[in-house]
Amino acid sequence: DSYDVAVVGATGAVGETIIEILEQRDFPVRNLYALASSRSAGKVIKFKGKSVTVSNLADFDFSQVQIGLFSAGGSLSKEYAPKAAAAGCVVIDNTSEFRRDEDIPLIVPEVNIEALGDYKKRNIIANPNCSTIQMLVALKPIYDAVGIKRINVSTYQAVSGTGKEAIEELASQTARLLNGQEPECEVYPKQIAFNALPHIDTFQENGYTREEMKMVWETQKIFADADIQVNPTCVRIPVFFGHSEALHIETAEKITAEQARELLSKAPGVTVMDERADGGYPTAVSEAAGKDPVYVGRIREDISHPNGLNLWVVADNVRKGAALNSVQIAESLIEQGYLD
Ligand code: A2P
Repeated sequence: DSYDVAVVGATGAVGETIIEILEQRDFPVRNLYALASSRSAGKVIKFKGKSVTVSNLADFDFSQVQIGLFSAGGSLSKEYAPKAAAAGCVVIDNTSEFRRDEDIPLIVPEVNIEALGDYKKRNIIANPNCSTIQMLVALKPIYDAVGIKRINVSTYQAVSGTGKEAIEELASQTARLLNGQEPECEVYPKQIAFNALPHIDTFQENGYTREEMKMVWETQKIFADADIQVNPTCVRIPVFFGHSEALHIETAEKITAEQARELLSKAPGVTVMDERADGGYPTAVSEAAGKDPVYVGRIREDISHPNGLNLWVVADNVRKGAALNSVQIAESLIEQGYLD
């Protein structure tokens, strides 16, 4: 069997990667529809050696497709995802628009695939935030083995999470600064090149940013555990691809670093790289960028807490954090027979 698939936001950082991954994984695509704004309509992209012309989202008839992969931004998902769903297309949405809706499942296939069937309520599945996905893929085996009461997390996030304009801003600021020119700041409120900005998404009333609160809300929903405590600080750094995270967790029962390493080495979607030697840890540029796994290193017991464990978690935010996770959700829909 094969399926007609629409990629919404096909010319963006995530959409381009979705199309690449559909090809790499040999996803059973019958017809691919690449959708973007009227600005891009008529552009030609390549898929499996064939040319596909980009169409305007506003003119598209979603009754032609069984699967829609959306990553063109929250306001567009808000408008078009319910229309597509009503036309019989199952929507896998990469934006934050529906993630907190109780009747829409929020899925990381390695973590909570059991919730997938709930998509039938609205024909929409939400793809979590990139920082949440990689954190939970790494924490799932520990959560299942000994329970997790609290997570302290600091992130070091790549600019590709903001989109193509941000990738260009980091490149051009870097080039200008190295040439002795003033950098121009358009996407971020302060210079991103050679800097670290403790600000991702909008500020909330409680002093956290929305990106930080996404990590709280989404962790509780995906683990189906309203009691798990999450205390995040999200930081944008001048890296193009790959988010890094320092996790400090408090487990319900004690787990040693060795036991954690053993569990993680068998966990789906995880690659352990933890040699306790120079270079024996994963990084965004050297390991994660362009790859599928969530890499885990620096696994060690917290010297300040009897039930504490520290981990360093790195993944490609555009792949596992967005495009790959969405395609895996689509593969699960097929495997479980929902699209028959
Ligand atoms: P376009 O290239 O035509 O603007 P990124 O996250 O990398 O910035 O990408 C955003 C994606 O969302 C792009 O594919 C972009 O298409 C698409 N997009 C933005 N605005 C619209 C719109 N009004 N209608 C359809 N797609 C849009």
